[in-house]
Parts: sequence; C-alpha cells; structure tokens
Amino acid sequence: MNITVFDSRAALVDHAADLISEFVTTAPAAVLGLATGGTMMPIYENLIGRHNLGLVSFSRTSGFLLDEYVALPRSHSQTYRNVIHRLFERHVDVLPGSIIGPDGNASALAAECERYDRQVSEAGVGLQLLGIGRNGHIGFNEPGASPGSRTRVVTLAQATRDDNARFFTSPQQVPTQAITQGIGTIRAGKRLLIVAQGTHKAAAVRAAISGPITPALPASALQLHSNVTFLLDTKAASSIPPAAL
Ligand code: GLP
Repeated sequence: MNITVFDSRAALVDHAADLISEFVTTAPAAVLGLATGGTMMPIYENLIGRHNLGLVSFSRTSGFLLDEYVALPRSHSQTYRNVIHRLFERHVDVLPGSIIGPDGNASALAAECERYDRQVSEAGVGLQLLGIGRNGHIGFNEPGASPGSRTRVVTLAQATRDDNARFFTSPQQVPTQAITQGIGTIRAGKRLLIVAQGTHKAAAVRAAISGPITPALPASALQLHSNVTFLLDTKAASSIPPAAL
C-alpha cells in the first residue's frame, strides 16, 4: 500500500491529476474508473485545466462510473451520469459515448447490474479513482458489503444520505437506493487511487489502512489489492498509526 500525505490540498489535487494524466497518456486503451463526490471535483477541474493547455488528451480514454442513484429522473442534475458530464466530460475531448454508467432507471434493475458488471469487467479498468465515505464506504458499498461483492442495488446508509444532502435542495430528495459496483468489481481494477481529505474522513482512513479486513468497514477490503495508492491531506491522515505510514 502506497500512502502519500500532502500539506496542501492543491498539491494533493495536482499529484492526483499527474497520475491520471500519465495513465491516460501512456496506456494504449486507457480505461478509467470514475468516482463522483466532492473530493473528486477539484481533480476533474485540474484535469480540464491541463486539457485546455493542450497537456493531456482523453480521446483514447473510456470511463466507467462507480455508482448511480436509483430512480432519480434522467434529467436530474444530481444523477452521477449528469454530474460527470457537467464537471468533466463536456469540457474535454473524450469521445461521445465513452463514459458509461449503470442505468438507475432501468426497468429490470438486477439485470442492469449484471449487464454493467460484465461490461466493466470485460473492459478491464486500468486506473480506478475512489473516494471514501465517512463510514468507510467505497462507491456505495455501505458497511456490511462483502469483499467479493459485485454490482448490485443497495440501500444507502443514513450517514451517506445525510452527507450527500448538500447536493440536493432538501435531505428528503436524496434517493434511498443506488446501483454500485461491488467491492469485488472494484478490486479487479489494476490500480486503485483513493483520495481523502478532512478530519471527518480520518477514522475511516485509519480503519481502511490499518484496521482488520471486515465488511463493517468496506474500504478495508482494499488491503487485499496489490496496487493501491492513498493520497491524503494531513487531516485525513491524522489518525493513521505512524508504523503504518
Ligand atoms: C459518495 C460516492 C462515493 C464517494 C464518497 C465520498 O457518496 N458514492 O463514490 O467517493 O461518497 O464523497 P465525498 O468526496 O463527497 O466526501
């Protein structure tokens, strides 16, 4: 496990964007696993800046979303499909149709999950971006998710709905269910890049890095992966035992 701690958030974001740019530039067919959430937004902004300067192209990149809300209208600004389009896709040269997510409005959701899981697995993610929830979730794999889980419909934890309420006009509007890639699906990515910032993530980060591997803390399953990089600010890293650094 590779852990880097940054004094400044700007340096963290820049380093994450360096790794992503290098990946999409050098991989013959760059398959990116895309996360949403507040942590990722400045990283996408940084990548757009580099693209505008002609420093990076996404024309050979495809991307797979980690998760999607269930039954949020397709036109809603907070579907992750719309979020990634607004914050990243429409600003760069990624080819139309190259960023894909699960359909949270599919009439047969279980079949959609199976189909998406197969699609992600067949494409083979080369670099997977991940945030981490306060409760240790990755994607929307909430506490209780097994390390081998596949893409499926999940019920969101109340803590997650509370955290994501800031993106909606009222807390009641946050969907109760989502489709998420499973932990097993995520672990099939070649390299995993986890980004966390802030004191509110410190306990989850400590448990993910140095706690027991347990479904109670979904991110702890990342210890089973051989190529994981944590990019943390000093606050998110503040509870990690020194021996683990
Ligand atoms: C969200 C997303 C995750 C994200 C995490 C952290 O609910 N489903 O993919 O990584 O929770 O979000 P944030 O970066 O806003 O703290």
